[in-house]
Amino acid sequence: MLDKYKKLSILLTPKELRTAILLLPVLFGLAAVETAGVFVFMPFLAVAANPDLTVHSPLIAALFRFSGADNHQEFMLRLAAGVFLLYMFISTYRALAHYALYRFINMRRSSIAKRLLANYLHQPYQFFLGRHSAAITKSVLTDVDYVTSNVLKPLGNMIAYGLVALAIIALLFSVHPVAALMMGGGIGGIYALVYLSAHTLLGNVGRERQKANQGRFKTLTELVGGIKEIKLRGLEDSYLDRFISASRTYSNRQAVADSISNLPRILLELLAMAALFGVAIYLVMEDDDFTKTIPLLGLYAVAGYRLIPALHQVYRAATTLQVASAPLEAICRDLLLAGKAGAARGEQRLFPAERISINGLGFRYAKAKQDALREVTLDISANTTVALVGGTGAGKTTLVDLLLGLLPPTRGEIRVDGVLLDKATLPAWQSAIGYVPQQIFLSDTSIAENIALGLKPEEIDMAALEQAARAANIHDFIVQELADGYRTKVGERGVRLSGGQIQRIGIARALYRDPAVLVMDEATSALDTVTEQAVIAAIRAMKGSKTVILVAHRLSTAMLADTIVVMRNGEIAGTGDFSTLAAENEVFGELVRAGQIANPEQTVEGS
Ligand SMILES: Nc1ncnc2c1ncn2[C@@H]1O[C@H](COP(=O)(O)OP(=O)(O)OP(=O)(O)O)[C@@H](O)[C@H]1O
Ligand SMILES: [Mg+2]
Repeated sequence: MLDKYKKLSILLTPKELRTAILLLPVLFGLAAVETAGVFVFMPFLAVAANPDLTVHSPLIAALFRFSGADNHQEFMLRLAAGVFLLYMFISTYRALAHYALYRFINMRRSSIAKRLLANYLHQPYQFFLGRHSAAITKSVLTDVDYVTSNVLKPLGNMIAYGLVALAIIALLFSVHPVAALMMGGGIGGIYALVYLSAHTLLGNVGRERQKANQGRFKTLTELVGGIKEIKLRGLEDSYLDRFISASRTYSNRQAVADSISNLPRILLELLAMAALFGVAIYLVMEDDDFTKTIPLLGLYAVAGYRLIPALHQVYRAATTLQVASAPLEAICRDLLLAGKAGAARGEQRLFPAERISINGLGFRYAKAKQDALREVTLDISANTTVALVGGTGAGKTTLVDLLLGLLPPTRGEIRVDGVLLDKATLPAWQSAIGYVPQQIFLSDTSIAENIALGLKPEEIDMAALEQAARAANIHDFIVQELADGYRTKVGERGVRLSGGQIQRIGIARALYRDPAVLVMDEATSALDTVTEQAVIAAIRAMKGSKTVILVAHRLSTAMLADTIVVMRNGEIAGTGDFSTLAAENEVFGELVRAGQIANPEQTVEGS
């Protein structure tokens, strides 16, 4: 558990903390005006009960002269008007102080979310392998909202109304210490008692609520992503049950928390009356001069009327803070993630003129028992085509991810013309690469924006776009079959396109920036034979001008390569051209025979 004050300093930047401190005088002002509002009733009631005070009390005599009134009645009228004016001022001040406080608090919603998201984005790729995607959505959206409304806001209220309550109690104390202790001690004591007895319960409720909330998000994210299989297998009810179970726990815990926060208020309405009568009886017994007790009783009634809501705000804030400690802890932890922005991506490109050398490369995934790559040593000559082949789980994707600089080597190194790939050189290297992943991600925008990913429509170079689309053999389809051509929207995750079309858009995307190195991970797996041939022709056309590294699952693609690298169990089991490997390499021969390297003529076309 992080210390509470530490958490606040994590939640707010030093600049925001300074602004928060600047708000303190505003809150002291609020306490002062609220107390003044309570106090003014006393002289008013005193004069009403005892008109002689305009002569006997020096303060009231001075007020009388100042008011310019001729008689007692007129003085009372002017006094009433004065009290009303003061109340107008108090209300205006209260409104402005609330605005300043709540504006500051609510603006933190976006500033904390921004810092959190930036932190996530600056984590290495590996970080995302170990996190459920819903956890990130949840913390940036709902947890930040929750912490703003249930940590920062209660904290602000606690300080603001704590000061008000203290100032009112101080006023009561200066007027009549014994009665003040009775009232302050009675009301404050009840709050403290309820809070202390519910403290642990509230913490547990908060943790259970947080866990259930995670469950809700996870179920929904999975449901949206896997709707095809859920429907096919009739898993609707099972997902519904999972959601409902988490949702019920969540609501139930929230209900417990809400009830505890309101408990003392119900008790207090009863006890406040008792306390007031107690004070009244005490005052009457102590002194039977009504002209003295009436103003005091008036003061206590008004003080109680202001004090209970103020103490209630403080108490509510304390309970809410206790429930919120779980999401607060989670956000603070993620705000502390050392997320460093990568080196700025300039125009510079690091591309091989001679070779890419991979030396003794090894890699193990976090929490994995075995290495996914072992001692991989390989030389890729610039501007040649290399195919990686191997059975499933052989380490092809892992090797590609290391080449892309997404995963850091556990051992060994990669050099491009002798330049070591590290933090400093990776941005320039990544700028030189076009990458077609196994799963192509589409955003729900136009075809053009999807190909030129990351650019605004007005920034897109239409000539380059068309060239890339032609090379990926998708241009004709786009202009002939889509209603709005390049401006056609693809739908969420490309639901309006077939698997092969999505794949070709992915290839066009990789080619749009005219990369020196093209990396494809099973990019041709969803293409039909004719389309595949066209894509293969495009890749062949790049021979001699681009370095192409592709993960091949088919004979036809593998045959296209200058060099074939056979992988097994994270190691290289052979390197050579197709005919040599087919004749001499046992692993390769096995792959071909087992159909792991499929002959397109025999492949049943899918998706
Ligand atoms: N995120 C991960 N965490 C732990 N282990 C992983 C992870 N990703 C892959 N692996 C393991 O690393 C090994 C290599 O996987 P990789 O994805 O590189 O295989 P591949 O050759 O691309 O297979 P395929 O042809 O099926 O795509 C496998 O044993 C796999 O289980
Ligand atoms: Mg793979």
